[in-house]
Amino acid sequence: MSDARPLLLFDSGVGGLSVLRAVRDLLPQAPIVYVADNGGFPYGTKSEAEISARVPALLGRRAERYRPRLITIACNTASTIALAHVRAALDLPVVGTVPAIKPAAESSRTRAIGVLGTEATVRQPYVDDLSARFAGDCLVLRHGSAGLVALAEAALRGEATSDAAFAAALSGLLDQPGGERIDTIVLACTHFPLVADRLARVAPRPLTFVDGAAGIARRIATLTRDQAWPETLTEGIAVFTAPVDVTPPLRASLAALGLTRIDLL
Ligand code: DGL
Repeated sequence: MSDARPLLLFDSGVGGLSVLRAVRDLLPQAPIVYVADNGGFPYGTKSEAEISARVPALLGRRAERYRPRLITIACNTASTIALAHVRAALDLPVVGTVPAIKPAAESSRTRAIGVLGTEATVRQPYVDDLSARFAGDCLVLRHGSAGLVALAEAALRGEATSDAAFAAALSGLLDQPGGERIDTIVLACTHFPLVADRLARVAPRPLTFVDGAAGIARRIATLTRDQAWPETLTEGIAVFTAPVDVTPPLRASLAALGLTRIDLL
C-alpha cells in the first residue's frame, strides 16, 4: 500500500537543501515538504531562548498542516539548541543535525580540525561534548560566521558574491593560533555545503570539507525502512514563513530538488 505522508525538512533558510540533496539521492520517491523559516532568519545570531521558544511551536503548526511521517531539523543551530524541545513537543520521529566532528577527526592527518558554523552553534556545550568524545587527540578550533550564511543565501538567489568574502570566513578559522595545522573543516551549518566549492577555491591550501548530510539521509532511510512510498513522484513543496522573492536561480535550485510548489504559511 502506498503512503503519501511526506518527510518534512526544516531550516531557517535554504541551508537544509544541502540535506535534501542527500535525502533525494537515497529516497527518490519520498514526498517532501521543505520548510524555510525565512521570517525568523538568521538563527545563528539569535539567543538560545529565542530559538528554543520559536522552533517547536513553528514545527508543530506545520506538522499539523502537512502531516509528515518524520521531521528533520536540517539546521545545526536549531538542532544543537532545540532538538530536545521539539522532540518533547511533537509526537513524531525527529532527526537532528549534528556537527560532523566524528568523521572529521577520523579523516584528519594533522590532528587539527576546524568547526565552521554559526555563532550560536559553535558556542554550544554540544560541540564541547562531541569534541571531547570523538576528537580528544585533535586541536579543535571553531569559528562562527553569519557572513557565510548570508553569502550562501545570496549565491542561491543568483547574486554576485566575492571570493574575498569567502576567504574572510575561512580566515576566521585558519588565522587562529594553530590554524595553520588544520587539514579538515567541519561544515557545521547546513548552508555551507551549498558553497563548499567556493570555499575550496579560495582556500590557501587543499582542505577536506566534511558535513553530515549523507549520515542524516541514512538515518532517515533507517527510520522509514518498513514504510511504503508513493509509486509515482509527487510534487515537492517549499514552504516559507514570510513573503519571499523567489528569483529564477532560487526557483531553479528548488525545482532541481523537486520543490516545484511554493506555499506561504
Ligand atoms: N542553516 C543553519 C544551520 O545549519 C543556520 C543559518 C542561520 O539561520 O544562521 O546552522
